[in-house]
Amino acid sequence: MPQKKFRVVLTKKLPTAGLESLLTNKSMHIVGGMNAFSPSRARLKKMVQGADAILSQLTEKIDGEIMDAAGPGLKIIANYAAGFDNIDIAAAKKRGIIVTNTPGGVSTAVAEHAWVLALGCAKRIVESDAYMRAGKYKQWTPGQMLGLELSGKILGVIGLGRIGQMIATIGNGGFRMPVLYVDRSRNVAFEKKYSAKKVTLTTLIKKADVIIIAVPLLPSTHHLIGAKELASMKSTAILVNIARGPIINEKALLATLKKKRIAAAGLDVFENEPHMTPGLAKLKNIIVTPHTGSATMRARRTMGEQAAQNILCALKNKAVPARIC
Ligand code: GLV
Repeated sequence: MPQKKFRVVLTKKLPTAGLESLLTNKSMHIVGGMNAFSPSRARLKKMVQGADAILSQLTEKIDGEIMDAAGPGLKIIANYAAGFDNIDIAAAKKRGIIVTNTPGGVSTAVAEHAWVLALGCAKRIVESDAYMRAGKYKQWTPGQMLGLELSGKILGVIGLGRIGQMIATIGNGGFRMPVLYVDRSRNVAFEKKYSAKKVTLTTLIKKADVIIIAVPLLPSTHHLIGAKELASMKSTAILVNIARGPIINEKALLATLKKKRIAAAGLDVFENEPHMTPGLAKLKNIIVTPHTGSATMRARRTMGEQAAQNILCALKNKAVPARIC
């Protein structure tokens, strides 16, 4: 009797690097993965029918309705991302479906991206580049494009998970920045090694020169940074978000940057992605990137390897490495 093949649904195209063990496995029947963008909800409901595994991406909302459309055979939803706020974890738990992510592999890429944004803001790199291209540079003058130095300044990291730790390591090791952090738990070993101190959000916001957001999006972190928090920051503060857009109230940030109440912001994520709050793109004191924090080939390969492992282990009833539920 021919062995049953597992139906693995790829919701949209993704780099094949790292996924080889899944894609070439003879027990897998791989469907989808051809289109560059996520399917409509109606199309997604059709695509997942009969799936044993869904390899999802952060642009798709995977809730109970999608899980039910897949049917009772659905064993695993493997999210191709470190974040998993696009998946209804409670609905998956209720149905006994495994949910996994791709943690760790993206940390270096995302932490480096956070520093690109912070440094770009500090030295007004995007503004300077536009100035040069527009032929505005006529002569060296000492007051031109004055920026900020980061060395020795205070770094505030909101969320000391894998990515937050990497951000703090670079800031402390590279720029000798003392680190303040906010997290649910204290990490004493990390504190000792990297001159870090656990503080309240209020303290971090008041004291830090560079504030980098690295917490997951949860009901408790939605609009964690709003008008009140922005108003308490130093006028020279740089705010960077490489986590999820809705953690910052984008309208409040727009008003703050318009008034030049803080020095600058670097955003890789947006409240209503792919859209930006109208007005934001007109400002000079902001750098924006299209959610490309983890966009390196090394990170993609690792994400592929982790996602493939998660699916293969779940379908073969083995312990699943990056299990959220
Ligand atoms: C990207 O945002 C990720 O969560 O991996």
